[in-house]
Amino acid sequence: MTDRVVHADAVIIGGGVAGLSAALSLAGDVVLVSKAKFGTGGSTPSAQGGIAVALADGDSPELHARDTLAVGAGINDHAAVDVLTNEGPARVRQLIMQGAQFDRDAAGRLQFGREAGHGRDRILHANGDATGAEIMRAMSAAVSQRDNVAVHDSTYAVDLLLDRGRVAGLVAIGPGGETIHYATSAVVLATGGIGRLYSHTTNSLEVTGDGLAMAARAGARLIDLEFVQFHPTALVSELDPMPLITEALRGAGAILVDQQGHRYMAAIHPDAELAPRDVVARANWELLEAGGAAYLDATQAVGDAFPERFPTVLAAARRAGLDPRTQPLPVSPAAHYFMGGVDVDGFGRTSISGLWAIGEVSATGAHGANRLASNSLLEGLVFGARAATSVGCSLLPPPALVAVPTVELVSAPSVIAELRSVMWQQVGLIRDAVGLASAVVRLEDLGRQLGDGSGEAANMALAARLVALAARDRTESRGAHYRSDHPEMKDATRRAYSQPTLVTVA
Ligand code: FUM
Repeated sequence: MTDRVVHADAVIIGGGVAGLSAALSLAGDVVLVSKAKFGTGGSTPSAQGGIAVALADGDSPELHARDTLAVGAGINDHAAVDVLTNEGPARVRQLIMQGAQFDRDAAGRLQFGREAGHGRDRILHANGDATGAEIMRAMSAAVSQRDNVAVHDSTYAVDLLLDRGRVAGLVAIGPGGETIHYATSAVVLATGGIGRLYSHTTNSLEVTGDGLAMAARAGARLIDLEFVQFHPTALVSELDPMPLITEALRGAGAILVDQQGHRYMAAIHPDAELAPRDVVARANWELLEAGGAAYLDATQAVGDAFPERFPTVLAAARRAGLDPRTQPLPVSPAAHYFMGGVDVDGFGRTSISGLWAIGEVSATGAHGANRLASNSLLEGLVFGARAATSVGCSLLPPPALVAVPTVELVSAPSVIAELRSVMWQQVGLIRDAVGLASAVVRLEDLGRQLGDGSGEAANMALAARLVALAARDRTESRGAHYRSDHPEMKDATRRAYSQPTLVTVA
């Protein structure tokens, strides 16, 4: 039974950088539905390293595109890369005009940092390593000023409502447990990624693959589902999510050493600690699997400058009882970012009329098989605004008031704990046919245990199965998808799927 009906021209689900960018660019009556409290939650506030953009002297969108393509391992969508790198500078300037304060030198010039895969210093950062928090602060303040945007936070989007194959709204659960029917012809998914499918992740508690599962249930075309990025350096401690130890530290000269203090990356890749993220992550995984330990040593490179340059890392280390000024930090890889998602065009349009997807839940193709560091905030900014243009230009019929199904949220902590462990062990950094086949069987069984209900647990079960199936079916290694039984690169096609049959359609 529905407790409340809310009419809107457009509903955005998600309050991270992509959702906020869309909200700031849309006219009409817009509702922004956020699972977390507005201005918190999701991955944006915890982004550290920064936002990559070709604004430094001597840099250019072409050079930025070249680095993005090199890391993407041969399956980037070139048009999406061009959009990202060409429109990025204007969007970041606009963000600065909206009040975002990036770090500057004594002369007032923007400071640019370096991360893996970038041929230039091109990463803007704020308050050292608190870049995402600063972007959230500025953008959520700007959204709060908008009379046309109503924010419904602590509100959980459960499912899309369809009428004859097109979007007719959304059913959600409000902060008091009430069922809300949003009657709208335009829904923009900005729900973020899938990090919580893994037992080891830097992603916050909200990141449970909700948008991917919702889109899958609605029959939207999904793509690149096998490509999950693992960050090489998350802090090993009791904390969950695992605190990110930003790559910018390695950009500043921090080194990786094993339990004997031996620096191992130099023998593995010519770029050593600044090798592509998947290479460093796999090296750390192998070291840990062999019973060793990996440490990030920033005592020489940063030392006493931690409070000023990396206050977020310092605070996280202190919470774990460590001091990075004087001791190397124990690190492990952790699930960090999803390159796959809902298949979209250059304006965030999905295969379903009235449904757009932006940010991490979408797959624009800009990242290919492996995202270049610090390109995700930029993607959210750029494609959020582009989707808003498309929503504004679409002549959508008014929504029919369709029947709202009964919502039954399932909760099953032990099933979810097992799912996360299966994903980490068998659908993680190093995959093979035997492990993936076993994971698919187990994930299907866990999904059956959850029944037909909705909610986070059901979404995680569906999203995990989709990722495992896609990983099983790509019998080669590319970017973040590494198959020990197929280490070679041999098939540069992107694979798309439609639920429920998971037939390859491209
Ligand atoms: O290491 C980092 O600060 C992460 C950056 C990113 O994921 O882009």
